[in-house]
Amino acid sequence: MANMNRDGFGSRFGVLVAVAGSAVGLGNLWRFPYLVGNNGGAAFIIIYLLFVILLCLPIMFSEFIIGRRTQANVFGAINKLAPKSPFIIIGIISVAASISIMSFYSVVGGWTLEYIFKSFSPQFLTADSANLANQFSGFSSASFMPVVMHLLFLGLSALIVVAGIKNGIEKYSKILMPALFVLVLLLAVRSITLDGAGAGIRFLFYPDFSKITGETLLAALGQAFFSLSLGMGCIITYGSYVNRKENLFKISLMTAAADTGFAILAGLAVMPAVFAFGIPPGQGPSLVFITLPQIFAQLPFGNLFSVAFFFILFIAAITSAISLLEVIVAYFTEELKLTRKAAVIIAFTIIGTFGTLSSLSNGVLKDVTIFGKTFFDLFDYASSNIFLPVGGLLVVLFVGWRMKRADVLDELSSGGAVAVKSFVFRWVMLIIKFVAPIAITIVLLNSIGLIKLF
Ligand code: PFF
Repeated sequence: MANMNRDGFGSRFGVLVAVAGSAVGLGNLWRFPYLVGNNGGAAFIIIYLLFVILLCLPIMFSEFIIGRRTQANVFGAINKLAPKSPFIIIGIISVAASISIMSFYSVVGGWTLEYIFKSFSPQFLTADSANLANQFSGFSSASFMPVVMHLLFLGLSALIVVAGIKNGIEKYSKILMPALFVLVLLLAVRSITLDGAGAGIRFLFYPDFSKITGETLLAALGQAFFSLSLGMGCIITYGSYVNRKENLFKISLMTAAADTGFAILAGLAVMPAVFAFGIPPGQGPSLVFITLPQIFAQLPFGNLFSVAFFFILFIAAITSAISLLEVIVAYFTEELKLTRKAAVIIAFTIIGTFGTLSSLSNGVLKDVTIFGKTFFDLFDYASSNIFLPVGGLLVVLFVGWRMKRADVLDELSSGGAVAVKSFVFRWVMLIIKFVAPIAITIVLLNSIGLIKLF
């Protein structure tokens, strides 16, 4: 079945940094610390970890199995394993979700670029939060610069993807991911050594189980999906570039560990500093663009820390953006037989257009709403609350109920090269067939308001 001419990852390290690059993104660096803070600290982290290990890992195995078995894009993969089956909807959801996520993700990616440039300017950093809030809302609601920055971010992602897997995605991930790790680590050390950092550490790690509600469980599950890039064919697509001999168990475990490690490190980089300067932690997405510069203004070499931080956000965002783009590009090249260049140009045009609408919806288009949401909010909402859970549900149903059990085992054991203990396989299958579909259905029904938990 293998296609000798198909591009693919060249080394295990390459696979690991690329998959971890997809997983580690804006979801880890801001969303995770913020959710932890508002949902009972360590109690949330424990629940999140349980979801990652018990539920998300088997979903990740499922996506890798589909991708590596077929060595094809999401549509091609489903078609090979189940020709003409309704499960082809997994392909449609994957491409739609990639476009939808990219349409707001690359706008935020553009903001990170702008803030890298801004950080060099002596007028930018000030301890006056009203001034910083004005700078942020002034910039993000403008019609020109944020759109230019969004297109620049998207263009840079497109340049990496057009170079292919080995010479593009893998090559850049190998440089960017270790750099990201070193920078986040440095920032975390700076943050936890500030006077008064203890309160932030306590905020992150003190388990307050009384704050756990049904909503908390859902927030943890949604975050785990988004953060691990599950439910939208990203891991299927990357899995299709993984060598037959690689141990899929190991890759999945290491990705989940890296993603969770980065999230906790990001928490340590942000929260202790927020507390040390007596700033309220619950400011939502603007925290990164308003509160952190306020902190940098009060640190020696503040401009340097500011440049480093926004550069970190940029790297994290671009290594995720390329994985999202690749889902679309793999589909265009393999199913519609376009050249890679043409595929990237078309993806750029589609996302460039939707992203522009989403960027303008923070300013001139703020009154244009669909289902009561601006374009930006709609893309964000549709992705996490609809596309990812539905996609994840269909993937586990497909692997659990449609694929042959022997094929699943063959793939998980890399054709027999990796010993998979029978109780481990039974546990994985139990979760894939029953636990995951039921849990995801509950999340989904709750998020569209059909049932109400707690
Ligand atoms: N995992 C990325 C993050 O945490 O920011 C976002 C993401 C990337 C979601 C790729 C989905 C995906 F397919």
